[in-house]
Amino acid sequence: MQDHRNIARPFVYAALALILTACGVASTIRASRSGASPKSEHQVGFPAELYARSIPPDNPQTPAKIALGQALFVEQRLSADNLQHCEGCHNYALGFTDQKKTSVGIDNQTGRRNAPTILNATFNTSLFWDGRAQTLEEQAKSPILNPIEMGMKSPDEVVAKIKAMPRYREAFERVFGREVNFDDICRALASYERTQISFDSPFDHFMAGESGAIDESAKRGWKIFNGDGRCIVCHRWSPERPLFTDGRFHNAGVSASAALVHNATAMRPRSDDSTQLDKLATDSGMSDLGLYLVTHKPADIGAFRTPDLRNLLVTQPYFHDGSAATLWDVVAHFNKGGVRNPYLDSVIVPLDLSKADQDDLVAFLATLTSPEYAEAAMVEYERQYRMSRSAVSGR
Ligand code: HEC
Ligand code: HEC
Repeated sequence: MQDHRNIARPFVYAALALILTACGVASTIRASRSGASPKSEHQVGFPAELYARSIPPDNPQTPAKIALGQALFVEQRLSADNLQHCEGCHNYALGFTDQKKTSVGIDNQTGRRNAPTILNATFNTSLFWDGRAQTLEEQAKSPILNPIEMGMKSPDEVVAKIKAMPRYREAFERVFGREVNFDDICRALASYERTQISFDSPFDHFMAGESGAIDESAKRGWKIFNGDGRCIVCHRWSPERPLFTDGRFHNAGVSASAALVHNATAMRPRSDDSTQLDKLATDSGMSDLGLYLVTHKPADIGAFRTPDLRNLLVTQPYFHDGSAATLWDVVAHFNKGGVRNPYLDSVIVPLDLSKADQDDLVAFLATLTSPEYAEAAMVEYERQYRMSRSAVSGR
């Protein structure tokens, strides 16, 4: 029998709450609604050196800047309709995602891409599914100006709105020593995002030597992950880089429609206008082209960044287009070797894993849940397990 009840051992976890009261105090600006305080670095498996290197020298972390960023993360006035905010699509309770197939922005407009989590985003060497932003600072500009996400017309308009609020004028002056400007808005947002680190999972405890932290099924799954499943080739893990990603881009056979090649040839010459590129990626039939949108190299057609695999049981559904509803669907996808297409990564081949192997792989993935999400993950695991066994998914 598959032991699917024992997936994420709940940890007694009071420490989290303590931490950031400490960080917030320095500022008068406080996030009013977000439960997402900055996280403690005292987490098993936390790669301290890598983290330190992920902080850009020209935007050091300070408690007041982080608190300002936290306030801006839930600031509805950063959007054209004064209703949308970063948290609308990156909701703390939902693992900093919206748990939608693809995101819905202002005026109920639906985008083409699944919202990735911002947990551990500080470690990403490029941002977005297609890597079109290099830093969190640069990334934060896109959703604010994206017509279907937050819909602001220009950086000037953003600055004017924020400046109109005295508490922000004062906070920017104190944090940056100058007037409100668009770059600093994005610096503060990035600083806040860098506090959302997420380790301390049963798997991290297991790797730290607690052999009982994960069950036998998950242990078999970790073996398959490293062996017959070939997952580790792309979802790389090492104690120094425990991130489950190679930071590279692959066509994993998700984006494989016949229209791809047609779309690639139909594309207009390269645009260096980042707003234009952002629109192509989030709101057009070109979205599935992936990295090709950025590089225009045919080999990059349908290639997307290898995602991190932590907290998957709160960030469903999966893949850049949200096309996989459950982890069993994802594993079945890789087991059949993805959907064949001319750009498919050569590592993706049919795997011939048994049903039991696939259950073990999912059991392993479930152990990558951080303690704050353990309970929600347990519920979702049960839901997905039932779906995987139901007639609907054909099993
Ligand atoms: C309408 C929904 C929506 C809103 C609002 C939104 N995002 Fe996103 N976010 C997305 C989607 C969808 C993606 C993926 C887009 C893509 O890859 O092309 C994304 C990607 C990201 C990423 C990249 C993560 C990674 O691993 O590559 C970060 C960071 C991020 N958003 C932060 C923010 C911040 C900061 C704000 C507020 C200024 C914000 N988002 C507002 C939907 C949204
Ligand atoms: C060739 C590199 C490669 C290999 C091998 C690979 N993956 Fe992936 N994986 C990716 C890429 C790239 C994506 C994103 C694809 C997309 O959305 O178009 C992905 C997506 C995923 C996702 C969805 C995550 C999310 O947040 O949406 C999961 C889960 C996953 N892989 C698990 C696995 C497992 C388990 C294996 C082994 C059976 C595996 N992968 C093998 C590259 C790979």
